[in-house]
Amino acid sequence: MNKALITLIDNYWDNPVWFAEDMLGFKADKWQSDVLMSIANYPKVSVRSGQGVGKTGLESIVIVWYLLTRPFPKVVATAPTRQQLYDVLWAEVAKWLVGSKVEQMLEWTKTKIYMKGYSERWWATAKTATRPENMQGFHEDYMLFVVDEASGVADPIMEAILGTLSGAENKLLLCGNPTRTSGTFYDSHNRDRDLYKTFKVSSMESPRTSKENIEMLKRKYHEGSDPWRVRVLGEFPKGESDSLISLEAVEMATMKEVNINNDYILNIGADIARYGADETIIAPRIGGKVFDLLTYSKQSTMETAGCILRAVDKFKNIYGQINKVKIKTDDDGLGAGVTDRLKEVVYQENLKYEIIPIQNGSDAIEKSNYYNKASEMWDVVRQELDENLSNYLQGREPTIQLPNDDKLIKQLSNRKYSIDSKGRIQIESKKEMKKRIGESPDRADAVIYSFAENRNTELSLLKGGRIWG
Ligand SMILES: Nc1ncnc2c1ncn2[C@@H]1O[C@H](COP(=O)(O)OP(=O)(O)OP(=O)(O)O)[C@@H](O)[C@H]1O
Ligand SMILES: [Mg+2]
Repeated sequence: MNKALITLIDNYWDNPVWFAEDMLGFKADKWQSDVLMSIANYPKVSVRSGQGVGKTGLESIVIVWYLLTRPFPKVVATAPTRQQLYDVLWAEVAKWLVGSKVEQMLEWTKTKIYMKGYSERWWATAKTATRPENMQGFHEDYMLFVVDEASGVADPIMEAILGTLSGAENKLLLCGNPTRTSGTFYDSHNRDRDLYKTFKVSSMESPRTSKENIEMLKRKYHEGSDPWRVRVLGEFPKGESDSLISLEAVEMATMKEVNINNDYILNIGADIARYGADETIIAPRIGGKVFDLLTYSKQSTMETAGCILRAVDKFKNIYGQINKVKIKTDDDGLGAGVTDRLKEVVYQENLKYEIIPIQNGSDAIEKSNYYNKASEMWDVVRQELDENLSNYLQGREPTIQLPNDDKLIKQLSNRKYSIDSKGRIQIESKKEMKKRIGESPDRADAVIYSFAENRNTELSLLKGGRIWG
């Protein structure tokens, strides 16, 4: 390998931001830097955004960086149409490469860029995402797939790409306008988001977008319409989604700190593992802030009760103002054993903690609006999160903060609901959800429980607005 290449590999292996600047004269915008560094550090990255923020530019940089900082790499760039692939993405690669410091190291054809001297084994290629065969048959240690307009790529092709990515240093970058609420790109921000590093970029925040264009879209469609969401905010359209809680509202709640200084009640929600693979999750909440979730696997009910009480001690130590503790655990299956044990300890040690067992299948307080208690508890949190989002959008302080936990985000925003024959909200059963997305919503449930109250207070608080004191 020649010396220039070794120097590039040594210097820029894990710093695409410097590579872009030093070698290509590309100064990344803030969000572009964040995505570039993630590509260096994670196997799969997915970016959804409004129009014109600089995705294709970013992808072209990733392609060139990977090509010049990995030994014998294979890079496949793809997009749903020939026009998008050649006239836009491939042209963008040329834009940054031509005249750059590394141009002379490479050789070009219409569909391939080779490393001079290694044309057979060191290249990037453009292939339209029209047939799965186009994506198969590459297996290399250093391989990168870049998919532009990823919402528009059909599932069999995305599956072929995912199936090809098996090497240790294989990477995938998906970018697109979130036009569709199904398919691999949608899943990468929803049910599969724990497998990806995800980003959302709004056209409003981007220095590159035309503000006249945004104004035009605002006049033409209203804010909140699907075209506005997709083309400006980088949000998936609402149209087809039947999730109770929106991804947007959940994500927003993970973004800002809320103040808990005047809150004196510690709420603990605990979802107790039922089956082998499930985890026990503890969600501590003070005021509007849910703290990082605590997770445990394979424990006895005694041990689990002990973990809950230790979590309480820890929070009481850190937050001296706490003078009230409410522990809410699911009372189904093994949960009942934990509730019993907690009650026993609290009685023996004369602790003034309230133990509140929660039965998901029991009647809702507002029986005419909700099929069961779980549906009601979830919808109460849905209302809070929607209000929190609308506060934020109107420039007011947010009131709810959730931990930035991809599994939690995925579970909260993926529970479907329907309207039953009596016109009530009925959330999908855990069993159905597990069948559909491969896991039951244990993290989400712990958080939901942390917001739930016992019957009487819940009733009065639901009527009066806020659900916590
Ligand atoms: N960091 C940067 N520095 C200079 N120019 C940039 C940068 N990022 C993007 N650009 C340029 O800005 C223009 C718009 O960016 P780009 O086409 O990448 O946006 P996009 O998000 O892919 O848009 P669309 O939503 O239409 O696909 C392009 O000409 C691109 O070369
Ligand atoms: Mg683009």
